[in-house]
Amino acid sequence: MSSSRLVMKFLSQKDMIDAGVTDMPHCIDMMDEAFTLLGKGDYVMGGSTRNSHGQRVWFPKEPQFEGMPKGGPDQRFMSLPGYLGGRFKVCGNKWYGSNVNNPKKHGLPRSILMMTLNDAETARPLAVMESNILSGMRTGAVVGLSARYLARDDSETLGVIAAGPISKFCTTAIVNALPSLKKVVVFDINEEASRKFCKEMSEKLNIDVSPVNRFEDAVIGQDVITSAISGDHTPLFEDKWLKEGSLLTLPGRANVENDFLMDAYIVPDSWEMQKTYKIEGLMLPEDERAIPHIQLHNLVDSGEIKESDIQDLGKVAAGMANLDKNSAKKKYFISNGMILQDIAWAMTMYESAVEKGLGQDLVMWEQPYLV
Ligand SMILES: NC(=O)c1ccc[n+]([C@@H]2O[C@H](COP(=O)([O-])OP(=O)(O)OC[C@H]3O[C@@H](n4cnc5c(N)ncnc54)[C@H](O)[C@@H]3O)[C@@H](O)[C@H]2O)c1
Repeated sequence: MSSSRLVMKFLSQKDMIDAGVTDMPHCIDMMDEAFTLLGKGDYVMGGSTRNSHGQRVWFPKEPQFEGMPKGGPDQRFMSLPGYLGGRFKVCGNKWYGSNVNNPKKHGLPRSILMMTLNDAETARPLAVMESNILSGMRTGAVVGLSARYLARDDSETLGVIAAGPISKFCTTAIVNALPSLKKVVVFDINEEASRKFCKEMSEKLNIDVSPVNRFEDAVIGQDVITSAISGDHTPLFEDKWLKEGSLLTLPGRANVENDFLMDAYIVPDSWEMQKTYKIEGLMLPEDERAIPHIQLHNLVDSGEIKESDIQDLGKVAAGMANLDKNSAKKKYFISNGMILQDIAWAMTMYESAVEKGLGQDLVMWEQPYLV
């Protein structure tokens, strides 16, 4: 019988860095493995559809109690539970809070994240880890994976909207995934943020990165476009701006035109998760509803887009989709983030930490009080 002593690892941000959390090529490969399992169906996420993105703490827009946070864009707490199979066979939960005013008001990142991993059979906690870098990495890496599978092989230019941390992870991942890229341009309403982005990214990635003054200059004629703005503005990507064969790959929200949706290859991270967002969103009062990609749902409901034409990135990774990335058809990847991504990268970091002897051992009990 195995010992009933329960010890888990705590991994600080430094431990995570020493374990290799910033290794983007490795992270993209892990996302490939996680999405292949997703495509085959070897996973379970939370909620009654088994495909919920997570449970959100919805603060009211007008709190009635002193000290209760006020609801708003990028203002939330969220828990994302799930199980990933394959060689991982582990459960995980990511718990985070987001406050868009954190950087200016408190000198903190917009969101602060932690991750717990548990053995899927016994429920033993394996590790609790700092997850800001982990989460940003997996968000960028899946955008990189979309570039691996959906961008044309001759892609040379990348347009980036917003110069925040998520865009930096996405840019790093896309540049890693596409060796043919020659030039990156970035647009941010904050010129200082753009300037810093260009300096940091060109030094780190050894590629030409320059700022542009208008949103559309980061879109028109680009082979790949990515956008990760925060706050309450949702930019419109006009169909006529998007080049034939280009990839619009989005970890952040955006508006697109119906013509674009009807003509492009549409590749969500998971259509089942997107459908669950709609089911859960409809339970909220009308003035608080935020259903991602509602325009796409409406076109599917009206029969203008066939559900069978929507192909998940998991199916693409598992070789189960029918899609020609080098064709002149535009490609649209939408990512809202999945716990499967976090679990795959967290388990990889936990294994690396054990191997390298990193982190602190936390004893939960020598003997359980009750069995
Ligand atoms: N899909 C996923 O898995 C996933 C994961 C994490 C975060 N996100 C989303 O990514 C977004 C960005 O996250 P972050 O941590 O980088 O945020 P951040 O607030 O730190 O940075 C966002 C940047 O966007 C810029 N910006 C705001 N409005 C703009 C506009 N109209 N045009 C151009 N730039 C504008 C800001 O100046 C800032 O530089 C958030 O909305 C977040 O919800 C998605």
